[in-house]
Amino acid sequence: MMQLRNTSTGYGNVAIAFHWTMAALMIGMFAVGKYMSGLDPTAPDTFAIYQWHKSFGFVVLALAALRLLWRAVNPSPALPASMPTYQRIASHLGHAGLYFVLFALPISGWLMVSASPWGIPTVLFNVIPVPHLPVPEVLGTNAEAEEFLKEVHELLGFVLLALFVAHVAAALKHHFINRDTVMKRIVSTAPARVDTVQET
Ligand code: HEM
Ligand code: HEM
Repeated sequence: MMQLRNTSTGYGNVAIAFHWTMAALMIGMFAVGKYMSGLDPTAPDTFAIYQWHKSFGFVVLALAALRLLWRAVNPSPALPASMPTYQRIASHLGHAGLYFVLFALPISGWLMVSASPWGIPTVLFNVIPVPHLPVPEVLGTNAEAEEFLKEVHELLGFVLLALFVAHVAAALKHHFINRDTVMKRIVSTAPARVDTVQET
C-alpha cells in the first residue's frame, strides 16, 4: 500500500512529491529568472523565455496553494526529541519562510507584469489567459510600480537563496552529524510507516 498521508514520524508520498516537484521548479525558476533578466529584450527568444518563466511561476503558485491545503489536513512529523529549542524555532521559521516565498515570488511577479506599461498579456503555456492584477495606486505610475515590483521580486529571490542554503545545510547536518531521520523522511516513506507499526 502507498503511504499517502503523513504520520507523526514522517512524510507520505503526497508531501514528498510536492516537496521535490516544487524544489526542482523553484531552482529552475531562480536560474531562468537570473538568466533571462540579462538577455537583450529584443533578441528573438527572449519573449518566449519570459513566457515560460511566467507560466511555470503560475504552476508554482497553484501547487503552493494545494500543498498548504494538504499540509493543513495532515499531521506534521515531529522533530527529533533531542533537538534544542532554538533549532526547533529556526526550523519552523525557515519552513514558514520557504512557504512565504513559494507564494510571494509568483505573486510579486504577477503584480510586476500587471503594472508594466507594455501591458503584455500573460497566456499560460500559450493556452490559459491570466488577467492582470489591480496594482495599488500608492506605487505610483505604471512605470514606477513596475520598477518597484521588479526590485521586490529580485529581493525575494535573494531571500529564497538564503533560506535554501540554510535549509540544505540543516538537512545535511541532520543526516551526517545528528544521524536522525529528518533527511530520510523527505526522501522515503519508511520513517512515516514506523508510526503505523507502533500504533497497531
Ligand atoms: C534541494 C535540496 C533540498 C533538500 C536536501 C531539502 C530537504 C528537506 C528536508 C530534509 C525536509 C524535512 C524537514 C523535516 O522533516 O522537518 C524539508 C522540508 C521542507 N522543504 Fe526542503 N529540501 C530541499 C529543497 C527545498 C526547496 C528548493 C524548497 C522551497 C523553495 C523547500 C521547501 C521545504 C519546505 C516548505 C519544507 C517543510 C515541509 C512541511 O513540513 O510542510 N525545500 N526539506
Ligand atoms: C514562482 C517562482 C518564481 C521565482 C523563483 C522567480 C525568480 C526570479 C528571479 C531570480 C528573477 C531575476 C531577478 C533579477 O535578478 O533581476 C526573476 C525575474 C523575473 N520574473 Fe520571476 N520568479 C518566479 C515567478 C514569476 C512569475 C509568476 C512572474 C510573472 C507572472 C515572474 C516574472 C518575472 C519577470 C518579468 C522577471 C524579469 C525582471 C527583469 O526584467 O529584470 N516571475 N524571477
